[in-house]
Amino acid sequence: MKHPFSSYRKLFPILERTAQLSSCSQSALSLPVRGAIDDYLEVWLQRGADWGYWMEQVELARAEFARMINAKPDDVAVLGSVSDAASSIASALTFEGDRREIVTTTLDFPSLCHVWLAQQPRGAKVRFVQAEAGSTRTTAQIAEAVDARTALVSVSQACYYDGQIIDIATTGRAAREQGAVQFVDAYQSAGSIAIDVRAQEVDMLATGAQKYLLGIPGIAFLYVRPELAQRLTPKVTGWFGRVNPFSFDPEHLDFADGAARFNTGTPPMMCASVARASMSLLNEIGIPSIEAYLAELSAVALEEAARLGLSVASPATPAAKGANTAIRIPNAAEVEARMLQSGYVVSARNDVIRVAPHFYNTADEVVGALRELTRLTQ
Ligand SMILES: Cc1ncc(COP(=O)(O)O)c(C=O)c1O
Repeated sequence: MKHPFSSYRKLFPILERTAQLSSCSQSALSLPVRGAIDDYLEVWLQRGADWGYWMEQVELARAEFARMINAKPDDVAVLGSVSDAASSIASALTFEGDRREIVTTTLDFPSLCHVWLAQQPRGAKVRFVQAEAGSTRTTAQIAEAVDARTALVSVSQACYYDGQIIDIATTGRAAREQGAVQFVDAYQSAGSIAIDVRAQEVDMLATGAQKYLLGIPGIAFLYVRPELAQRLTPKVTGWFGRVNPFSFDPEHLDFADGAARFNTGTPPMMCASVARASMSLLNEIGIPSIEAYLAELSAVALEEAARLGLSVASPATPAAKGANTAIRIPNAAEVEARMLQSGYVVSARNDVIRVAPHFYNTADEVVGALRELTRLTQ
């Protein structure tokens, strides 16, 4: 199988000796990202403190993310984690009267579910759709669970466990038709699946940079549809949520227009430099072509796993899953460590090993990892 992005492999030095297939957890370090960290340290070393440079890095990261999801930079807030973004959103919503339910699934990332459960003292009721690993029915189950009691629908666009994809346009429409709003957790999709917040009519969407965005943790981006942002007032805030963060007025609280009202404290500048560099690379290549290639790798993984007789937890068709192919392995954490000794970085979660390539990986690496998994476990 032809690798359309082979010329980019030299930007990821680890690939010379190790097949890093762990983008569902941490992608490979690229030279542009290393350069961004070096630049940050150099500016610090040479100039001591440079707010202009720091703020520029944050703005450039915000703009790259906005470009990736077809939003405007003003519609994106910069926070510390996806959990923080969800908490901020939760704080701005009310759970009152007949509209108190938060619809989510048992396969959403637990941190998000915990944020929603933490709203129970404020009147919220969390309704869990029982999602099954490998299922292609979860989108329909979510849509069916939404009704006039729903305040919020929270979905993970690609599941951290089995990679299954939720059609966020369908679940968002179901929310809208019932007068609710939708929050999309895009941590396992951004950077590997094309997102167009306008075409898909997204209300709110958050992701961090560590996984398919090729960066590090410590930064998250929160998109909020502009008309919706204007109606929401977060109860979690800080000086960067102000109309003018540098007005230093302790006695008055205003909220910036648009998504900026969801900013809190000093943004993570070094993480922003990293995210700016990594997303610029992804945007240069183009997420739609990355998505198409990753679907080809999914087909290769599913075929090989079937041939090897492995137990696959992911959906059986490439179109229903993201890059991650999850294989059921009883002692997954131990096998993850042994795979590293064999030259493969994969990621364990509970009872599965996740083989999660990015655009820089080859079909041979995916096949090799599955064969090594088989050798180590049989
Ligand atoms: C789908 C998904 N959402 C959220 C998170 C957690 O994000 P954060 O640690 O930034 O809150 C993860 C982490 O693995 C994840 O996979």
